[in-house]
Amino acid sequence: MHDQAEQLRLRVQETLLQVKKAKVVSVLSGKGGVGKTNIAVNLSLALAGLGKKVVLLDLDIGMGNVHLLLGLTPRHTIADLFEHHFSVREIIEKGPNNLDYLGGDNGLLSLFELDRNSQVHFVGELEKLSSAYDYIVFDIGAGLSEASLKFVLAGHEAILVATPEITSLTDAYSMIKLLHAERPELTVWTMINQCENEREGRAVHDRLNEVSSRFLGKKLASLGQVSFDPAVRRAVMEQLPFVLESPRCKAAGQIQKAAQCLLGKRGAADISFISKLLSFLSKS
Ligand SMILES: Nc1ncnc2c1ncn2[C@@H]1O[C@H](COP(=O)(O)OP(=O)(O)OP(=O)(O)O)[C@@H](O)[C@H]1O
Ligand SMILES: [Mg+2]
Repeated sequence: MHDQAEQLRLRVQETLLQVKKAKVVSVLSGKGGVGKTNIAVNLSLALAGLGKKVVLLDLDIGMGNVHLLLGLTPRHTIADLFEHHFSVREIIEKGPNNLDYLGGDNGLLSLFELDRNSQVHFVGELEKLSSAYDYIVFDIGAGLSEASLKFVLAGHEAILVATPEITSLTDAYSMIKLLHAERPELTVWTMINQCENEREGRAVHDRLNEVSSRFLGKKLASLGQVSFDPAVRRAVMEQLPFVLESPRCKAAGQIQKAAQCLLGKRGAADISFISKLLSFLSKS
């Protein structure tokens, strides 16, 4: 088994030199219900609309609802990769705007307890995703599980969604502390959701950034804000993403701006995601 893992590690090193690599971005929060899934879905669609190849993975273990917002009924989940040794090609679902999607379920919790053979197959399939897409986006559930934390830490960037409410802000700061303790070099963006106006969104980011810089020495990047917009709720009710259902609504414009901002950041799309995940698995 050890040889197999070693072989995969070597193959990973080889492909590093040849193929393009996806940027791996997690959307997470401290407090639940702040709008992560809506942001993950609509931001992924906006990136796809800008010509990027994007796959969205629902890592909200047990409560995944990305498919509901996309109006899809998934036939498979990411756990099929290691439980039944499917290939990613067999289980990827097609969403709107050329966005690809993969559902998650409780099975993911057992990933770190699997035999080495299944883990190696799983990472090999993720490696295929990494070379086929520009972006791999994870929608992370509230109450970060051990398994999903490892995916976040293995990724290149994290988008921390918070609302201006004090409870959301204190939980966001706890999340920043946790991420910083585990992986100080991870790029952390803030995305302030359900704002009254842009000024409020900027002030909330500045406050979080100031506390994080002062007490942790960690600077936060800003992906902007999304206003409280009735079009978001309407779109959820209709199971249509708001960037497609109401492309002219305020929230859709702000998501487009955030997608441009994300694209503007250079670097970091390297092999480290796969090799980090492999090393987490080896330690388990
Ligand atoms: N900008 C917004 N304007 C208006 N309503 C919003 C906005 N963002 C989110 N909502 C509302 O909040 C609800 C919860 O959003 P969402 O499911 O995306 O949160 P979440 O953070 O993913 O929740 P969970 O922690 O349970 O995964 C949405 O169904 C929608 O009604
Ligand atoms: Mg969610």
